Amino acid sequence: MSKTAFITGITGQDGSYLAELLLDKGYEVHGLIRRASTFNTKRIDHLYEDPHEKGARLTLHYGDLSDGARLVTLLSEINPDEIYNLAAQSHVRVSFDEPVHTANTTGVGTIRLLEAVRQAGVMPRFYQASTSELFGATPPPQGEDTPMYPRSPYGAAKMYAYWITKNYREAYDMFAVNGILFNHESPRRGETFVTRKITRAVAAIKAGQQDKLYMGNIDAIRDWGYAPEYAEGMWRMLQADEPEDFVLATGVGYSVRDFLQFSFEAAGLEWEKYVEFDERYLRPTEVDALMGDPTKAHEKLGWQAKVLAPQLARIMVNADLKQQTMNGQHYVDVPADDIAATSTHAVER
Ligand code: NAP
Ligand code: GDD
Repeated sequence: MSKTAFITGITGQDGSYLAELLLDKGYEVHGLIRRASTFNTKRIDHLYEDPHEKGARLTLHYGDLSDGARLVTLLSEINPDEIYNLAAQSHVRVSFDEPVHTANTTGVGTIRLLEAVRQAGVMPRFYQASTSELFGATPPPQGEDTPMYPRSPYGAAKMYAYWITKNYREAYDMFAVNGILFNHESPRRGETFVTRKITRAVAAIKAGQQDKLYMGNIDAIRDWGYAPEYAEGMWRMLQADEPEDFVLATGVGYSVRDFLQFSFEAAGLEWEKYVEFDERYLRPTEVDALMGDPTKAHEKLGWQAKVLAPQLARIMVNADLKQQTMNGQHYVDVPADDIAATSTHAVER
């Protein structure tokens, strides 16, 4: 019997990789999408199956984490074996501009979904997309037991979601887990997160379409991994014998300045010639350094990150250079062979 999964945030970076992974594993996949005046399914268009075709295994449903009644209806109809709650207003800087909206979707959205599970009377395993932003001001290395100190409305909203997921596990004996994921990136990364902003700029500069890149705090340190590997980790958490929370990270930190250097180098450019400071990209409170300790995931799930930031920058720059030549019409993924061929993991680890 194939399993059924319900993914919120299926149109996002992680949702698209997770949907791919689950379809590959034979799952029937249901995704929640928001109604928008333009198409917002670019990252999953290649997975789309005509619902009139017999055996189509991907179904999309309109809905929103702000609409609890809709979630109850959907869960009653779908009766999923697994739920992956990836939907969120996920941009930290934007959360300072839209704190209430962020609280409503990223925080309260999670309890709406958990309550919908109870009201629909279904018994799925539940994955909550928690984040290294929970650690915020606490210095690295950060692991499952590190004290949490969020530094943004986004981090505070995710803190609520983290605790309510734990609470439902303890109160109602639900198989509900938090994946505490450190930053993970890919050619499908949202264009305003720092890595993708940089790699897109590199491609535009190389093509002669841009001559400056304006950045905020380039001294910040992040633990950047490769998103498809993290989707695999999410799935493994729901296959475990016991519901437990896990950190997923590479264990290696680099600064934004380092990422600039890796990315410009990948296109044969010197970053110092193009990058300028603009205070509009600073945050009222910053998270200075995130670097995770993924030991528990390695020991209990057999999960380990393989791609580190220098290679990740090359993967993303190559994809953005290719996309430039295609007039930015499609997401370009780098084939697995290319990734293996450029791997420097053993040296950098
Ligand atoms: P993303 O690309 O920004 O995707 C967010 C998804 O949430 C999109 O599908 C978006 O839909 C959907 N969404 C937003 N508001 C919604 C609402 N009110 N109702 C329903 N859907 C809504 O984020 P991501 O990078 O894939 O991250 C996935 C999850 O992991 C997020 O919860 C994020 O906070 C968390 N996380 C990410 C990282 C990371 O480094 N990527 C690390 C730790 C945790 P539209 O496409 O319509 O906008
Ligand atoms: N976005 C952005 N734009 N960030 C910049 C810029 C800029 O121009 N200049 C410097 N930065 C710095 C930010 O201040 C931050 O310290 C770092 O680059 C990374 O910023 P983002 O890529 O926007 O990601 P984030 O770390 O704030 O949040 C991401 O990772 C979290 C996990 O740690 C998001 O994906 C969150 O949803 C996720 O939870």
